[in-house]
Amino acid sequence: MTTPEVRLAQADDMPAFCKIVNHYIATTTLNFRTQAQTPDEWLKEWQRLRERYPWLVATVDAAVVGLAYAGPWKARSAYDWSAEVTVYVADGARRQGIGKALYERLLAILDAQGYRTELAVVALPNPASVALHEFFGFRPAGVLQAVGFKFDAWCDVGFWQRQGKSIDAKPGPIRSVQEVGGSPRACVG
Ligand SMILES: CC(C)(COP(=O)(O)OP(=O)(O)OC[C@H]1O[C@@H](n2cnc3c(N)ncnc32)[C@H](O)[C@@H]1OP(=O)(O)O)[C@@H](O)C(=O)NCCC(=O)NCCS
Repeated sequence: MTTPEVRLAQADDMPAFCKIVNHYIATTTLNFRTQAQTPDEWLKEWQRLRERYPWLVATVDAAVVGLAYAGPWKARSAYDWSAEVTVYVADGARRQGIGKALYERLLAILDAQGYRTELAVVALPNPASVALHEFFGFRPAGVLQAVGFKFDAWCDVGFWQRQGKSIDAKPGPIRSVQEVGGSPRACVG
């Protein structure tokens, strides 16, 4: 497979994001939603978060094959230097290096912005997601048992955490995505 291009997401990527994730909502317990989302919901969330958190798209021959994005871990401001990260690769495009390409760029942008901790919430079991996160230095930080009920089964959720090297120092202000990532087209991994 051709190496994917990774760039900042744009408004017109939202229908493809919605389609990729709706597949996992409909067919797996990896996402705890039970109802499909709409492109408009994705658009509103992207508009709300895109200045402060990177949202990336991976394409191959102009087709969207994956997405990775960050968002707040919690709203209270002492959490400002922590971000939750999420990644999805289109069904049929997994295990071809797309998740890796997306996270390489996503984590580099978050580091440059000044985030100190990234957190991933993984519905278990999910060996692919666990291996991807651990490849990027995330460490297991605990499991909540039977906190979701989907497809007639209780599901556990695990937390994985990655911490920056300068965690002891007092953090500065978070820089915007535009400041560190440039224009959508300039953000190539
Ligand atoms: C998890 C996911 C994003 C990984 O992306 P991907 O493009 O398939 O992964 P990559 O090809 O980049 O693989 C990166 C590494 O992850 C690990 N990995 C990926 N798929 C794996 C699998 N099925 N089993 C075990 N390890 C796996 C490997 O360490 C791999 O490196 P390697 O191929 O050099 O051994 C993808 O499988 C996916 O979208 N799954 C469904 C949605 C999901 O679970 N998202 C995460 C929510 S927390």
